[in-house]
Amino acid sequence: MAAHKISKIGVFTSGGDAPGMNAAIRAVVRGSIYYQKEVFGIIRGYEGMIDGEIVKLGARSVGNIIQRGGTILKSARSDAFRTKEGRAKAKENLDKYGIDALVAIGGDGTFTGLHKFYQEYGIPSICIPGTIDNDIAGTDYTIGYDTATNTAVEAIDRIRDTALSHNRLFFIEVMGRHSGYIALNSAIAGGAVAVIIPEQQISFDELYQVLEQSGQANKKSSLVVVAEGSTIGDANELAKMVAARSSYFDIKVTILGHLQRGGPPTYFDRVLASRMGIAAVEGLLNGTNDSMVGVFQNKMVFNPFDSIMNGQIHAIDEESLRMAKILSI
Ligand code: F6P
Repeated sequence: MAAHKISKIGVFTSGGDAPGMNAAIRAVVRGSIYYQKEVFGIIRGYEGMIDGEIVKLGARSVGNIIQRGGTILKSARSDAFRTKEGRAKAKENLDKYGIDALVAIGGDGTFTGLHKFYQEYGIPSICIPGTIDNDIAGTDYTIGYDTATNTAVEAIDRIRDTALSHNRLFFIEVMGRHSGYIALNSAIAGGAVAVIIPEQQISFDELYQVLEQSGQANKKSSLVVVAEGSTIGDANELAKMVAARSSYFDIKVTILGHLQRGGPPTYFDRVLASRMGIAAVEGLLNGTNDSMVGVFQNKMVFNPFDSIMNGQIHAIDEESLRMAKILSI
């Protein structure tokens, strides 16, 4: 493919922050400078693009951030960028700085915005998948998912200590509005008796049966991991439903919430983010465009936006679900 003439790259983070986003920013900045391009940070995602919050970055601006969670560029969800006027203002601001290519780090909402922007203005664009949910089609892993899942597992281990001491049943709610990745894998790693995820149709009766069986199997305590996007009730609701059916269980609920979003990224997320950041810059300079970087079978790949949007999902691994069931007897 013919190389585009790119001289100034803008980088931003958008949507929910995820541990490892800083490592990705660092890689984009240093990768750009390595190839003698100028690089600008756009603060607060599309909101900052519209408001003109843009700063020049150097190799030293991104020192000492690889180990930090959150995002030094801040993040936001932008309604204004959904409007034609908002996008026109954003383009005006990019032009002021001469920014002629973009790297966005975020989730599917971020990609949709950038795809639209590309269609309107043709500015070379690449996205890096950064979300703890791991719900993006076209990549085996998103940045932040590994860290968030490890955080959830650590929390589950701690809860297990107290659950066991009191012979209690715990419902532990983890993040994932539409995706059960964190829930499923933290449930397997944390030894949960059941997992409730949005992708799997399980009825309350089936869940109750599993809990009864675990009582009969002499389990002293039980942990149920519930994804935020559960379709049969959140952790509090499920706890109430079980209590309404039987007084046998001593039930507690823990909602892990945003603590899953923070903290130092794992080695895996730092390396993944670094690889994706460099791949995004090299992709842009080689003429790849309107695409997302992904990792597939441990190789960097580029997916055209069209192929990963429009209702495409990163399907849950059925084999992991099957295994979770076997392991919980
Ligand atoms: O998309 C990432 C995510 O952490 C989801 O798992 C969660 O449902 C959502 O963001 C929470 O968003 P907010 O921080 O805006 O409440």
